[in-house]
Amino acid sequence: MVLSASDTAAVRALWKKLGNNVGVYTTEALERTFLAFPSTKTYFLHLDLRPGSTQVKAHGQKVADALTLAVDHLDDLPHVLSALSDLHSHKLQVDPVNFKLLSHCLLVTLARHYPGDFSPALQASLDKFLRHVILALASGYP
Ligand code: HEM
Repeated sequence: MVLSASDTAAVRALWKKLGNNVGVYTTEALERTFLAFPSTKTYFLHLDLRPGSTQVKAHGQKVADALTLAVDHLDDLPHVLSALSDLHSHKLQVDPVNFKLLSHCLLVTLARHYPGDFSPALQASLDKFLRHVILALASGYP
């Protein structure tokens, strides 16, 4: 599965549009993930997970920064995300199934905030991008 030039351009253009708000959307995506898929909360029992929590917001910003780094290095994701892959696999032991749940919630979030942009083609490009990120994050798993 390869990101085509048009996928890359579409993801980069949307990211540019999101500007400094990526963290707002990743935070909403996390909140949706915790509500829609409560088993995901088991990894975050040490954080305050109530809606509007500053801890979730801070975590959302970290996820946002990682995704922005990924958008900036689409041709080198396994390398750029290798430390995060180690963290999620060895240290946190996050079951990779959960990556898809968060991705899904991020797509829902972006569709809600950018309905005019969210064509089927953009959905497909974003989905491919997130699958690439997930593959890179899962690459450290045995
Ligand atoms: C921590 C990114 C998915 C569980 C982190 C950090 C980043 C990150 C950047 C902070 C690392 C640090 O502080 O050095 C991502 C990305 C994901 C993703 C880009 C997928 C697109 C998930 C999922 C789960 C998860 C699906 C579990 C359901 C955790 C946990 C931490 C963490 C438990 C540590 C939180 C803390 O104690 O502060 N992740 N993550 N991650 N992630 Fe993920």
